[in-house]
Amino acid sequence: MRRTRTRIAVVLAGTAALATAIGLASTAQAATTLGASAADKGRYFGTAVANYKLSDATYSGILDREFNMITPENEMKWDATEPNQGQFSYGSADAIVAHANAHGQRMRGHALAWYSQQPGWAQNMSGTALRNAMVNHITNVAGHYKGKIYAWDVVNEAFADGGSGGRRDSNLQRTGNDWIEVAFQTARAADPGAKLCYNDYNTDGINAKSTGVYNMVKDFKSRGVPIDCVGFQSHINSGSPLTSDYQANLQRFADLGVDVQITELDIAYSGTQQASAYATVTKACLAVSRCTGITVWGIRDSDSWRSSDNPLLFDGNGNKKAAYTSTLDALNGGSTSSPPPVSTSPSRSTSPSPSTSPSNPGGGQGCTATTSVNQWQGGFVVTVRVTAGSTINGWTVGLALPSGATVTNSWNVTRSGNNWSNVSYNGHVNAGQYTEFGFQGTGTAGTLTPTCSGS
Ligand code: XIL
Repeated sequence: MRRTRTRIAVVLAGTAALATAIGLASTAQAATTLGASAADKGRYFGTAVANYKLSDATYSGILDREFNMITPENEMKWDATEPNQGQFSYGSADAIVAHANAHGQRMRGHALAWYSQQPGWAQNMSGTALRNAMVNHITNVAGHYKGKIYAWDVVNEAFADGGSGGRRDSNLQRTGNDWIEVAFQTARAADPGAKLCYNDYNTDGINAKSTGVYNMVKDFKSRGVPIDCVGFQSHINSGSPLTSDYQANLQRFADLGVDVQITELDIAYSGTQQASAYATVTKACLAVSRCTGITVWGIRDSDSWRSSDNPLLFDGNGNKKAAYTSTLDALNGGSTSSPPPVSTSPSRSTSPSPSTSPSNPGGGQGCTATTSVNQWQGGFVVTVRVTAGSTINGWTVGLALPSGATVTNSWNVTRSGNNWSNVSYNGHVNAGQYTEFGFQGTGTAGTLTPTCSGS
């Protein structure tokens, strides 16, 4: 007994020394949720959410445990947000945004301009009147959510199916071919901080339709039309199967200088075929450095817009399916069911587990800030937690990054140099409570020493 214990201790000590010697953390743990695991890779994992389901405890329990990005399934569409011309209705979309803020989730906005789910009054419009109505709609909706949206699907599904590679006919298209760039320019003016995406389906492999979109994005980049990202819906089924050029297609768009995102993933295969297709899509995103995240189009199979296909990661009772496990394993770069290897990714150079550092030893009124850093080869995500000592109504965190580190995007915060301050919805923090913001960057974050001052 004693001899065995000693031997185990020696082996463990040897392993730890080896891990330290080669510069790897000995405490590396594979993350156990989709969101945390994606965050370890500098990405998000999201889902579509229907506001009326948030009161379902199973639904919101899974949502808040697994997902750190939310797309309203219908609540931000034109028919929902402007049911009568000039009369805006934000109640259910605002409720989703409030839920996201309360649970540290970010928002994808969906969708500002689309041929479908238009209110009746817009469906009946054409020409200049419709063009002006579209501009007014985008200005109001993107303006209402200014500072609260990570990325907007500015234009949805504007290309035709089939081999033409051209635009889909619609009332918006008939206002003139420039309607898409006008939509993007209008969205940029309304919310300069949001990433602006073009989003479509059947563009998930290299084909005539995706090449049409590719040529538009290339043209926009060459002429300075503001576009930041392309969304690939990825509604995969036997009629629209996963093809072997999925990753290459993401990569060719990324090479144009835009982010790519998988925006509405569902896979209508069953059993191991489904599990393996989810893993393939996940690995493809991880392999493309500008693929910033994956969103599935619903939580349980019963929540799906195509529920008879059972295309999602959780069954109707909220249990994890094989597709869930294969997705999580792919995010973790291997198996999560057995003890994790010392390093979860060959490119990772430092600890994948969050490291926290205390802050604000002496100064500041009413709050403290701590940071949690996920660093990988060439990039990082920092999450900053602001904890209130006494109740505060605003805060500023002082946080300098080492030279060579560049912030590429941030959320739940406004930044002015080394000062990071609250936005409208997260300034008020009750005594003892906390709020979080974050940012992503390139380079090395190093050891951060934040200060906090509350007001
Ligand atoms: C779907 C929703 O899931 C349904 O609830 C609604 O009835 C119709 O729209 N492409 C899109 C999404 O961009 O907005 C669609 O969502 C699915 C296809």
